[in-house]
Amino acid sequence: MFENTTFCITTFGCQMNKHDAERLSGLMSSLGSVPVQTNAEADFSIFVTCCVREKADERLMGTVATMKNDPVRPGSPFGKRFVAIGGCIGQRDGQKLLDQLENADVVFGTHNMEALPHLLQEAIEGGMRRAELVDGRAEFHDDLPEDREHPWAAWLPITVGCNNFCTYCIVPYVRGRELSRPIDEIAQQAQAYVDAGVKEITLLGQNVNSYGRDLYGEPRFAQVLDVVSKTGVERIRFATSHPKDLTDEVIERFATLPNLMPALHLPAQSGSNRILKAMNRRYTVEHYRELIEKLRKACPDIALSTDIIVGFPGEPEEDFQATYDLVNEVGYNQVFTFIYSKREGTPAAEMQDDTPREVIQERFDRLVDLVQRNAERLNLEQNQAGVVLPVLVTGASKNDPSILAGKSPRNQTVHARVPQGMSASDYAGSIVDIRIDEAHTWYLWGTML
Ligand code: 5AD
Ligand code: SF4
Repeated sequence: MFENTTFCITTFGCQMNKHDAERLSGLMSSLGSVPVQTNAEADFSIFVTCCVREKADERLMGTVATMKNDPVRPGSPFGKRFVAIGGCIGQRDGQKLLDQLENADVVFGTHNMEALPHLLQEAIEGGMRRAELVDGRAEFHDDLPEDREHPWAAWLPITVGCNNFCTYCIVPYVRGRELSRPIDEIAQQAQAYVDAGVKEITLLGQNVNSYGRDLYGEPRFAQVLDVVSKTGVERIRFATSHPKDLTDEVIERFATLPNLMPALHLPAQSGSNRILKAMNRRYTVEHYRELIEKLRKACPDIALSTDIIVGFPGEPEEDFQATYDLVNEVGYNQVFTFIYSKREGTPAAEMQDDTPREVIQERFDRLVDLVQRNAERLNLEQNQAGVVLPVLVTGASKNDPSILAGKSPRNQTVHARVPQGMSASDYAGSIVDIRIDEAHTWYLWGTML
């Protein structure tokens, strides 16, 4: 049924959704369907979308709705393009998506990705438009083959789901309760990746720091770092960390594990204790500052990044200012700034929200401006001209195949010209030494050695 067909997967969302997309791609490929880059070439357009903020919803709805009149692919065996929607948004909205989008055929959720082929089959054979969802606990999808975007980089989910119920967040409702994967399975999977030539492993979870609480009665994330480090993989990263669960043991690993990269994403969300409390974050800004101090002590050149929400219901200027001060003081290499987005079904959606939109936007712009200035200053300070960095090459820069793009240990983008007669893609997946000549706000420019 799927032989000689094509599929295109589009993701709007976080790394967990992207990882799910790799699994779906593996699943479709294993049935004989061929991945293509655009929906125009596809018999099956598959969307994997997160629902953490409204923007992703809007992008999905807009994209699918505008596809309605697109011509089917020349040579299509069905005379029709099938549209399937999954990920967090499928889990949340189910049948509603089919009601709203007349050209959507199939909806599936986060707990039953393996349902996609049989749902498509029903749509092809019986013209059925159906949403199939499974409630329940989060699960790993190791039974599905995966089709990684880059052969040298792998995401390895160590936990799925979330137990934290931050009051603004929909994730616990669509991903289910937290579930950890046994440590020996993680070690085996990491070793298999290394044996297959993977250079960088990113451990994934909504809150990796609480890893193991459900299995062992205590968090054991530091031990996960140890076993993954032992595989000898060149680079280890992880996301995301919840400040309330980041332990001294884990912080110490930044000093002791040579392949743990000096970069940490530690979402603060707010710099005001009152707002943190209303968000149910369960740490204080004092505790957060203490963590930053310890991290800098363990690893002086660590690159820190964070998430900040501006405009949480009822946030006055004073509390925003506390966030602004925190961001200014910590000096992040990168800050993901979000305007609060109301998610039905979460406690914050019931809270009184009377701050005018323009006021929130003005605060947001002020924060973005600060972030930009700090990132530029830090990039200059941390990367003095002449320093040599090992750079994992990801491919060519967008506009020029003779310029490579890659990532430094601190996860900064690095560009350099490749030797004459070579193409940047020849180096993709290798780690090369680059001497830094210039630091810009969002990238470094250097010379290949
Ligand atoms: N509105 C705005 N931002 C949100 N995030 C999560 N839920 C919301 C929401 N309702 C942000 C948080 C989180 C990141 C992944 O998305 O900052 O860390
Ligand atoms: Fe959402 Fe909070 Fe869980 Fe992160 S920790 S996924 S913000 S509920």
